Amino acid sequence: MCGIIGIVGSASVADRLVDGLRRMEYRGYDSAGLCTLHEGTLVRRRAEGKLANLARVLEADPAPGHVGIAHTRWATHGAPTAANAHPHATGEVAIVHNGIIENFKELRAELAAQGRLFESETDSEVVAHLISAEIERGADPLEAVRDVLPRLRGAFALAIAFRQHPDLLIGARLGSPLVLGYGPEGEEPEMYLGSDALALAPLTQRITYLEEGDWVVVRRDGAQIYDSENNPVTREIRASGASAAAVEKGNYRHFMQKEIYEQPTVVAQTLASYLRRSDNSVALPQMDVDLSQVRRLTIVACGTSFYAGMVAKYWFEQFARVPVDIDVASEFRYREPVLEEGGLALFISQSGETADTLAALRHCKANGQTIAVVVNVPTSTMAREADLLLPTHAGPEIGVASTKAFTCQLAVLAALAAHMAVKKGRLTRDEESLIVRHLLEAPAALNAALDHDEDIAAMAPLIAPARDVLYLGRGQDYPLALEGALKLKEISYIHAEGYAAGEMKHGPIALIDEAVPVVVIAPSGPLFEKTVSNMEEVRARGGQVVLISDAKGLEAAGEGCIATIEMPVVHPLIAPLVYAVPVQLLAYHVALVKGTDVDQPRNLAKSVTVE
Ligand code: G6P
Repeated sequence: MCGIIGIVGSASVADRLVDGLRRMEYRGYDSAGLCTLHEGTLVRRRAEGKLANLARVLEADPAPGHVGIAHTRWATHGAPTAANAHPHATGEVAIVHNGIIENFKELRAELAAQGRLFESETDSEVVAHLISAEIERGADPLEAVRDVLPRLRGAFALAIAFRQHPDLLIGARLGSPLVLGYGPEGEEPEMYLGSDALALAPLTQRITYLEEGDWVVVRRDGAQIYDSENNPVTREIRASGASAAAVEKGNYRHFMQKEIYEQPTVVAQTLASYLRRSDNSVALPQMDVDLSQVRRLTIVACGTSFYAGMVAKYWFEQFARVPVDIDVASEFRYREPVLEEGGLALFISQSGETADTLAALRHCKANGQTIAVVVNVPTSTMAREADLLLPTHAGPEIGVASTKAFTCQLAVLAALAAHMAVKKGRLTRDEESLIVRHLLEAPAALNAALDHDEDIAAMAPLIAPARDVLYLGRGQDYPLALEGALKLKEISYIHAEGYAAGEMKHGPIALIDEAVPVVVIAPSGPLFEKTVSNMEEVRARGGQVVLISDAKGLEAAGEGCIATIEMPVVHPLIAPLVYAVPVQLLAYHVALVKGTDVDQPRNLAKSVTVE
């Protein structure tokens, strides 16, 4: 979703701003722009579509200057046109904004009544006008921003440039992330603002994460942060650890492909921090939370992270015998969930910034829940608001369609479920040790799954012409069917639905004909035969089945399928991690056949920071 970068520099900034925007492309966007300060004027350049278009505009019409702000926009209010692209500017100020100003209609009406003219259909433009109006009334930039911020409802990260102040940017955040960067020591002083540490990675490693409600006055040689009460505050400067190389594809064709292939390594890294090999036990981070007392667990997440939560529900119920209530974050808050005092609420998120999940987290906190967070970005807002922080160690995930974050989430959730079961006295030491040994088999099994990449590539042309594809699974493979369908939709734009295999007879079976491929996820095991019966019902109606199973399963039921994908024989506990690989690869190769933009699919954003 929208990305922001700002530089108060000691040399020309336009190229570096565009480079910063490039590092945020993965967030998803559909227009881009920048504004520099040059000889007392605001120099603005904007373009619809990809950054290459903005680069062309800049080539024809450069934007000189040592101070500037830039933005990639993911359209919410108003189409992705150049006129709606940020920065929004008046004669006096230019702003870039990530978030939504919920009361923009009232503010716009008020400003229009004062005779102010708007150029865009965006909610963001009101911010430029409000600040401008204050400056025209004689306020200095600090006073103007301080007085305008409390008038904004909704969520924002802002960077603001002022025509008459060539050594100044002001940033602010509420609900959307913003980091402050300090120029490298020993060099000409410079300061930066960015939506995330990755955007600033080549510029600096010294960063400060602004807190909710903070705003910051940034000059070339330093910055002053104010809290939401306008008190000057000091916030810790940390080493970001974000490496510029993390945002490189290396020898891979796409980030998604790279991230699929990283899974054996990053799952191993993640497991290493939750499992103790010496005695095959689960070792969670030190915590104040007494897991033996958890009587009910509420899991909330969005998208792929939600499906990881759905798989984990099976584990928490099976191992720890704890009832689990699970919901997508966008629905959770609005259905008045019953939250017993002292309950445990678990949030799962790759980014740690997804607006709906964050809002649900705060709702649970306000209602007396202990907050556990499984998150991939350890510096994210959710990580900072957690009582029990459970990091996944997947490394930066750049492809919009989540892959390695999902399998790492599953690894952490399995360890947490086993640990809770131990604390509740539901697992003996031997049973715990067995679970740990099975989990430790996952990286090798993921490698074995990746060995079938070429077979999957070879069968992708069978799926690519389809208009609709169904995915079926039972038990913990049902969420995988949902995830498989989501992956295919996201990157190949083929309509796909995941169903609980047994539910197919209650509707979806009406869709079956020769043109609808049905992908059946069925490792051999206790539920195999039941799933195969559902598969036969599909085949009896001319359905074209792709069966994903192990050698035993394929031998028993593979005949008559249009294609089969063989997985290694694995324990059911790690099957969801292993079977994630073929559904990811299938979507990837179908997208390649269709020629879609795999890493930045249309209309999607990596980190959804608006509700
Ligand atoms: C977006 C991404 C998905 C992701 C979902 C939840 O829709 O495109 O890949 O699963 O957000 O994001 P989170 O960062 O909270 O896991």
